[in-house]
Amino acid sequence: MKSFFFTLTLLCGLATVTAQSVAITVEAPTDTTVISRHIYGHFAEHLGRNIYGGFYVGDTSEIPNREGIRLDVVEALKEIEIPNLRWPGGCFADTYHWKDGIGPVEDRPSILNVWWGNVKEDNSFGTHNFLNLCEMLDAEPYLSANVGSGTPQELTDWIKYTTHPAGSSPMPDLRAENGREEPWDVKYWGVGNEAWGCGGNMRPEYYADLYRRFATFMTGWQNDELYRIASGASGDDYKWTEVLMQNIPKNLIEAIALHHYAVIDWAAKGPAVDFTENQYFITMKEALKMDELIEEHVAIMDKYDPEKRVDLLVDEWGGWYEVEPGTNPGFLYQQNTMRDAMLAGATLNIFNNHADRVKMANIAQAINVLQAVILTDEEKMLLTPTYHVFRMYVPHHDATLIPLSFESPMYTFEGESLPAISASASRDDEGRMHFSLVNIDSKQSHEIELDVAALGITGVTGEILTAETLQEHNTFDNPDQVAPTDFDGTEMSDGKLRLTIPPFSLVVLQGTK
Ligand code: AHR
Repeated sequence: MKSFFFTLTLLCGLATVTAQSVAITVEAPTDTTVISRHIYGHFAEHLGRNIYGGFYVGDTSEIPNREGIRLDVVEALKEIEIPNLRWPGGCFADTYHWKDGIGPVEDRPSILNVWWGNVKEDNSFGTHNFLNLCEMLDAEPYLSANVGSGTPQELTDWIKYTTHPAGSSPMPDLRAENGREEPWDVKYWGVGNEAWGCGGNMRPEYYADLYRRFATFMTGWQNDELYRIASGASGDDYKWTEVLMQNIPKNLIEAIALHHYAVIDWAAKGPAVDFTENQYFITMKEALKMDELIEEHVAIMDKYDPEKRVDLLVDEWGGWYEVEPGTNPGFLYQQNTMRDAMLAGATLNIFNNHADRVKMANIAQAINVLQAVILTDEEKMLLTPTYHVFRMYVPHHDATLIPLSFESPMYTFEGESLPAISASASRDDEGRMHFSLVNIDSKQSHEIELDVAALGITGVTGEILTAETLQEHNTFDNPDQVAPTDFDGTEMSDGKLRLTIPPFSLVVLQGTK
């Protein structure tokens, strides 16, 4: 592997009196870390209009669809190369009995979606629909199994139903009877969700034992291809990780999945659009906490698993605000602004920089729920600022991490400070370098100087995502209000790349040789 180094210099913002500059030389590691594309994963729960109206409209709909799946949504998600999709929950998963969602639609029982608005769930979207959707998207399915109110038998039946060849046992035969002869390829299996909360309000000791029991009976066809994911901690519940790492044998687990939402205050989450700077600042503070959470959970994992055999996933993350006025509070429908673009860009940079242990992440959620990448209204669809961030970061998928270290200038608000700049970089298979730079500062531009001489970069192209205000967002009447544009604000001389990154902006550069 080629050895190279470069320097990243950050010069403090133009509006400050004294310009600070930091120059750091970074040598690429010889043991290369690949940024798993699964860090760019998504999540589809039976919640509000995520599945029904979002992904699925039924095959009698006038909205263009294939087998009931919206084609506009498929096309948009393929554009961001969606690597995986987690389903059916979330909290819903621990109430879900998968056999309710197979066979003739008219025979499927309706249930009450007790977590999300107490609405009727008619099970018209089930296992076949979801796994066929994943095939259409060319995304890997991630099935989240019911541990809270389910049984090991139910889970092993689901595994056999989906992944074993027809003719091998009754479950795969039932699948074939239901129209699918070939098994699907399902590697990722969640063993419960938020076991400390909606998944059963368990103590970590109890869940660790229950996990061991369920995982014991999870047998794929080849018997070694399943990737078993334990329900991990909520935020900074480090005891949860400690107990799981202590008590679950390594041969029974592939990953632990952390959840962390950027929430201002669970009792007063604030509006998604008309937020104040104070609310923006707190959202970003909560979002940036992800870095510390990963470091602390990883430190515990390292104690028990220095070989890093067990991965850390973050299979729910994102901004969570009050629902849009007039919408069902149980549907978690919220708009998505430049604040969300900042949140997404900075968080994805954190994941990239921790790619040695963080192997998957799933933003919550894909469509019409929380920090969605897509919003729909009947036949209309729009792409949110968060969608654009995912599109701009595609070059990082499965690329080799280039570690960066620098001291950021600070974004200060009412006496509190946060690092204004976040960054990550990678090199793709064809040797192209990509730099994603985020300036969360609400007021100040910052000058960035990258010493790229050693990389042999001679030219650069780029894109910027920014807006007039942090509150700007896309609407069905004005769907392109916030969209990336070409960025030609770089200047290259003496092997150095200089740019000024405006307030609340995100720039992705591609270095060309
Ligand atoms: O994403 C919404 C909910 O948040 C999920 O169902 C649950 O796992 C989490 O508490």
